[in-house]
Amino acid sequence: MLRAVFRLAVPAVAACATLALAGGVARAADAVPGATSLNPTQVAYLSHCGGCHGIAGVSGPTFVPMLRDSVGSFACTDEGRKYLVQVPGVSMSLIRDDQQLADVMNFVLIDLGGKSTPPGFKPYTAAEVHEWRQHPLSMPDFMANRAHVLERSLAACHRGNNGAAATVK
Ligand code: HEC
Repeated sequence: MLRAVFRLAVPAVAACATLALAGGVARAADAVPGATSLNPTQVAYLSHCGGCHGIAGVSGPTFVPMLRDSVGSFACTDEGRKYLVQVPGVSMSLIRDDQQLADVMNFVLIDLGGKSTPPGFKPYTAAEVHEWRQHPLSMPDFMANRAHVLERSLAACHRGNNGAAATVK
């Protein structure tokens, strides 16, 4: 039985590979000038985060916080850097690979955060993400805690801390 399935499957796989190659050539020839092309990190953001946060980090007047030109305000303290990884949408993301999640967070901070992100922002590492995502934030006064974290980070930004935060603790 298994062998029969295998015999059927092999030519099918070969046929698909040929089709895929042919499709690749055809696509390159048909490429639309100026069409948006996304890298794997942007695709991961789009499929795992964009549904709530908006494809450009703009979530509109909802309870989902804006990321565009805003999220970087948290990044002037270690506490804030950590908070951004510990929010449930990030720490419990189905993006299970720590490096990929670090890449997505760096895209969020650097590309979406824009001027809100301090100039010395040190990109997240897989090790930081690995450590911090194990402790998802869950507290009854989530928004009060968020406000305090933000307040302390903004104060640090104003003091001139350029976001070159410490390593994993
Ligand atoms: C189901 C909707 C949803 C998804 C999916 C989601 N988030 Fe969120 N995100 C939220 C909400 C709501 C908050 C506010 C905190 C809370 O209630 O958890 C938040 C908070 C955040 C924050 C903190 C911002 C702030 O101003 O406090 C960041 C950063 C963030 N999300 C990034 C991401 C990234 C990156 C992904 C994908 C890996 C993601 N989120 C997936 C809904 C979502």
